[in-house]
Amino acid sequence: MAKKNIGIGIIGFGTVGTGTFKALSENAETIKQRTGLDISVKKIADLDTTRNRGVALADGVLINDAKALLNDPDIDIVVELMGGIHPAKEFILEAIKNGKHVVTANKALLATEGNDIFSAAAKKGVEIGFEASVAGGIPIIKVLREGLVGNNILAVYGIINGTSNYILTKMTYEKVEFADALKEAQTLGYAEADPTFDVEGIDTAHKLTILSSLAYGIELSYENVYKEGITRLTAQDIELASELGYKVKLLAIAKAADGAIEMRVHPTMIPHEHLISKVDGAFNAVFVEGDAVGSTLYYGRGAGDMPTGSAVVADIVDISRNIAAGSVGRVPGIFAANAKAKLKSIEDIESMYYFRFSAFDEPGVLSRISGILGSRDISIASVIQKGRSKGGSVPLVVLTHRAKESDVLSAVKEIDALPIVADKTLFVRVEGSES
Ligand code: HSE
Repeated sequence: MAKKNIGIGIIGFGTVGTGTFKALSENAETIKQRTGLDISVKKIADLDTTRNRGVALADGVLINDAKALLNDPDIDIVVELMGGIHPAKEFILEAIKNGKHVVTANKALLATEGNDIFSAAAKKGVEIGFEASVAGGIPIIKVLREGLVGNNILAVYGIINGTSNYILTKMTYEKVEFADALKEAQTLGYAEADPTFDVEGIDTAHKLTILSSLAYGIELSYENVYKEGITRLTAQDIELASELGYKVKLLAIAKAADGAIEMRVHPTMIPHEHLISKVDGAFNAVFVEGDAVGSTLYYGRGAGDMPTGSAVVADIVDISRNIAAGSVGRVPGIFAANAKAKLKSIEDIESMYYFRFSAFDEPGVLSRISGILGSRDISIASVIQKGRSKGGSVPLVVLTHRAKESDVLSAVKEIDALPIVADKTLFVRVEGSES
């Protein structure tokens, strides 16, 4: 007889754990109507069993011993929401060993250790749900695994870190510097006390690792994702970009081009009229281009208790339905069938570029710089020089046509060694059509 009662165990009762519990209990009737199943939380494990999370729990549900939860025969699905690599990985592997399905929001763990986890799950015949690991409440994993399964994916790109998008939005509209925008993000609870993962592009690269794996059937390969954060951008760069017709966003980009896959995270200038440049504040948005469907866009909240809880519950329901229907494993987790895929390094990509040179304001400076760019086949599309500073340095801004990154790197190296250059050159890759 089909199983109708599904037991859930949650490890980690923080923001997302509480959101998941709330979504499951507040929408229990709706979920039951839609699935015909009784999905109930049997145990929640957290080291802190006393804090008031504003939810009512039956006696004995909240425990401080994850091991007891992992060995509980009434639990079919273990939901890992504690974050971090250890002991989250060990708990997940233990759950798999005990024949339990797993749901996790842990993008850092999946991006760096996920191949082990998916292979252990496949051997044991249990499922791993990870909808909440990328873009919070946006069902982007389902889009790639199921909705667009009939497409070759040409590109996946978007804003998948709300904290850095909040900071860039503030820098854009209020013309404040990075440090001030970060401080405000921390005060509002958008950024952690240690914001490194968010502002250095690490969190975005973790999520892009997962999206690329689904889009291109490759193993999770975080070490091959190029990443660059937003910390070197100034309010002036953002204003100059705006004068040139662009917004600056921290973009995750995965593309299949020239028989190879490129995966990169970096600040990117996007034309004002592109929909992505209108995604502001802590919101996320992901574009997926498929060869059959064309361009599609997914927008929503990428973080927060209830949006992320919504994604966790979607996985719980999917797995519960599969258990009830006896069809566990119908949709594989990570399906790394494309073993021969070539990965492109950042030096091999092509893009348009924005350069901000800090050059002394002297005759002949522009011709020295443009000469070096020209010698690498880097063609200039427009130039702006702001202000005059006798004897001091001024920002000299150059926008280029499409060029090879390897040429850009070698040109910047030569330019930065010139005595007429006061500081390291900043460059930002530019997306959109050539002017
Ligand atoms: N730090 C992440 C963000 C949280 O800012 O988007 C959700 O993964």
